Amino acid sequence: MFQKAAVIGAGTMGRGIAFATAMNGIAVTLQDINEDTLEASKTYIQEQFDIGVKIGKISEDDAKQNIQKVNYTTSMEEAAHDADIIIEAVLELMDLKINIFKQLDQLAPRHAILATNTSTMSPTEIAAATSRPDQCVALHFFNPVPKMKLIEVVRGLETSDETMEKAMLFGERIGKECVQINEFPGFATSRMNCLIGNEAMNMVMEGVGSVEDIDKAMKLGLNHPMGPLELADLVGLDTRLRNMEYLHETLGEKFRPCPLLIKYVKAGRLGRKSGKGFYDYTDTTK
Ligand SMILES: NC(=O)c1ccc[n+]([C@@H]2O[C@H](COP(=O)([O-])OP(=O)(O)OC[C@H]3O[C@@H](n4cnc5c(N)ncnc54)[C@H](O)[C@@H]3O)[C@@H](O)[C@H]2O)c1
Repeated sequence: MFQKAAVIGAGTMGRGIAFATAMNGIAVTLQDINEDTLEASKTYIQEQFDIGVKIGKISEDDAKQNIQKVNYTTSMEEAAHDADIIIEAVLELMDLKINIFKQLDQLAPRHAILATNTSTMSPTEIAAATSRPDQCVALHFFNPVPKMKLIEVVRGLETSDETMEKAMLFGERIGKECVQINEFPGFATSRMNCLIGNEAMNMVMEGVGSVEDIDKAMKLGLNHPMGPLELADLVGLDTRLRNMEYLHETLGEKFRPCPLLIKYVKAGRLGRKSGKGFYDYTDTTK
């Protein structure tokens, strides 16, 4: 059923989704408008295959074969024209996602499923820009994709049962566990996760504790595998801010983005990807 996939956007999430797809033997074309990002994603995917071999998740021969299944391009047409499923992972901006879906609708085969990896936004609104809203769905992956098991499969208003079934099958085929969620801003996970992260940021701002101690408290006291501030750094503070802005707009006051988050993004402190966020990643001796 899935011979060929495409991923649009080769950033933090797109490259991970492309890796998980190829790792499980499905050919995938990864598209981005930025050549440097595509180069960086190539290095990342090579590293992930190396790790897969090292930890015994894949044999050396299969890794060699599957890595050849990833193609890189700046052309949306090249990525979309023969894909059975396309996963969009561009910035969390509704206008941009709608624009991409309009193009994909023109370029993709008639049978293709169009999925968005949005963390918070309405798949119904994105699907409405296409002539196939019944074949549109959200496939919400988690960061880092190679390690995280879950995909939230989010049903938009017009998503058909057949599309839901196929989307779940695709998730399972690439080694993930799926939950079915009905559309609502922030779905089941981002809504809670963003709130916890934002509260931790407010607590840093109010001087309740240090960044390290607030994270430690959540890990050791509430058994969270990661602290909310280190998680926000991993997500990317710009991405997190866009998530908060959307949730604030759709769900109200309790999602107002923490002023400290806004200040960090303005300063270019975007978390791990820029070298500094709530933590400093530039000192490699630490
Ligand atoms: N970062 C996370 O932890 C996380 C987790 C789950 C879901 N998401 C969602 O995944 C999506 C991507 O987030 P990310 O963190 O990977 O962002 P990112 O900023 O790391 O990557 C986005 C990529 O999109 C590319 N892009 C921008 N415009 C494009 C266009 N017109 N065509 C093709 N590529 C284009 C950019 O060049 C960039 O490489 C967002 O919707 C985000 O909410 C993120």
